[in-house]
Amino acid sequence: MCGIVGYIGGKDAYPILIKGLKRLEYRGYDSAGVALLNGSLNVYKKKGKVNDLVDFIDDSNVKGSLGIGHTRWATHGVPDDINAHPHLSGSERLVIIHNGIIENYAPIKLWLQTQGHEFKSETDTEVLVHLIEKMQKDGDLLIEEAVRLALSKVVGAYAIVVIDRMDPDKMVAARKSSPLVVGIGEDEFFIASDATPIVEYTNQVVYLDDNEIAVLSRKEGLKVLNMENEIKTPLVHEVDMKIEAIEKGGYDYFMHKEIYEQPKTIDDCMRGRLNAQEGWARLGGLEQYKKRICNADRIIIVACGTSWHAGLIAEYLIEDLARIPVEVEYASEFRYRNPIISERDVVLAISQSGETADTLAALELAKKHGALTYGICNVVGSSIARITDAGSYIHAGPEIGVASTKAFTGQVTLLSLMALVIAHERGTISTSRYQELITELGQIPRKVEEALTCDERVREVSERVKNATNALYLGRGYNFPVALEGALKLKEISYIHAEGYPAAEMKHGPIALIDENMPVIVIATNQSAHEKIVSNVQEVKARKGRVIAIVNKGDNIMKDIADMVIEIPSTLEPFTPLISVIPMQLLSYHIAVMRECNVDQPRNLAKSVTVE
Ligand code: F6R
Repeated sequence: MCGIVGYIGGKDAYPILIKGLKRLEYRGYDSAGVALLNGSLNVYKKKGKVNDLVDFIDDSNVKGSLGIGHTRWATHGVPDDINAHPHLSGSERLVIIHNGIIENYAPIKLWLQTQGHEFKSETDTEVLVHLIEKMQKDGDLLIEEAVRLALSKVVGAYAIVVIDRMDPDKMVAARKSSPLVVGIGEDEFFIASDATPIVEYTNQVVYLDDNEIAVLSRKEGLKVLNMENEIKTPLVHEVDMKIEAIEKGGYDYFMHKEIYEQPKTIDDCMRGRLNAQEGWARLGGLEQYKKRICNADRIIIVACGTSWHAGLIAEYLIEDLARIPVEVEYASEFRYRNPIISERDVVLAISQSGETADTLAALELAKKHGALTYGICNVVGSSIARITDAGSYIHAGPEIGVASTKAFTGQVTLLSLMALVIAHERGTISTSRYQELITELGQIPRKVEEALTCDERVREVSERVKNATNALYLGRGYNFPVALEGALKLKEISYIHAEGYPAAEMKHGPIALIDENMPVIVIATNQSAHEKIVSNVQEVKARKGRVIAIVNKGDNIMKDIADMVIEIPSTLEPFTPLISVIPMQLLSYHIAVMRECNVDQPRNLAKSVTVE
């Protein structure tokens, strides 16, 4: 959460910063700000979106070839102009932007106040820049040295960039548990929370590691130090990200674009990993530890939100096909409940961003207990991808809409491949079943494309339910997690209260809520439980509930009972979530648009949750 961008070089920094902030806005949009150095240090910040900042700056002085920018997701202090970043030090010599939380800011603030420091904002960030200034002044230090000393006194997570007005040829950055990427151009450097603001200018990047400090200097180039002041050799990577992937490309919202990208992103996820003609599936990331994974006592999945829902589907897949016991844990609960973890367990972390603080902490705990850790991430070079023993990328490309769509189907595709590879290795499914599943998985991109043709029908249905205040999502078996995911999507972008339930559980409580105003979305595409789902729908109808049924093409039974039906192509049961989630995504999207909600930037949310 919070987006950070910085530039030092020969160009005007301001347009680079603003473009970068727009790319990073998915990380937080409570306020935005920039600081530009050009003899004087000019700081502009404003509550609201990046466009509000641009309007506010208007034709003020934005000259300078060194600058930093920030888009905020509020933690300490309400979202307003004063709490917006960048924050100045007491003498206004230093300026900082920060992503993360300084946990011990309160005692530091008290101590600084006894030393005469006065604070303007409620933020922990302002405390940090005052501390850096105190260190610098007391020791007559270079800015990088003051940053290092100050950081040795703080507890918490941070990615920071600091500029010193008196040292105008450099900027200093540091990270701990919050991502930072340095872009290396010709006689210029970029720094950002992810590569999206950088790729337009250079594909050469360095991912900073935890406890590293980077000095980006016009005179001395890039220098990376650790907290012990030892010089580290930066490892330069080449990023492979296309500009089109981070632009809307004619769609009104990134979310709609990303929903439509899914036939391709699922195909990309399977490229080189599945060959339907030759009848094999493999996962490079799994090879080195295949034996250990196949012989694991347990697979524990840790994740949050939508990624947790993908984990629940993996539980069905892996237990059904590969017969290894699976537990799916909210990362935030797992890490605090003293869980039993052994060296014979495999801990699988699922995360689009690869930066989710709770998932990272759960992994660290698993590592401490000797479990093998495996990461399934989308963002290349992210923290989870780097701290796990092994892993696989889902290759969905940048997901910018805050509500996760293509990352979910990428995760489920990857987990389907993983279940197939393990099942084949363990001999828990017959060769003919293996072949049948492989052939069908190869068909999924085409079937998702076909499923997307329900868009217009979903829009009609949305029109009829857009004013609901509550909604219930029901599914069974493989589609129970899809019901949870459908409910989450509706909640987060259209602000309608929604709950997902296993269809049969409805009569143990939620049935009391059903009346003629309550839309009940039923996923009825599992062949094995079809009759049981029909009975659940009858129970809803008997209480005057309005049923929207997601059915396989040609399901005439459901057509006669449900109020509204959305047809999608059928597939083998283990892969039904990949198809049935499409109308869920579209339904939430259309309802949110009809309710005039900001689809890509829902209130209070941020894409990458790097605080606990
Ligand atoms: C919902 C959504 C969130 C994320 C969750 C985990 O649409 O996007 O629930 O799934 O914050 O994020 P990652 O996958 O980045 O760990």
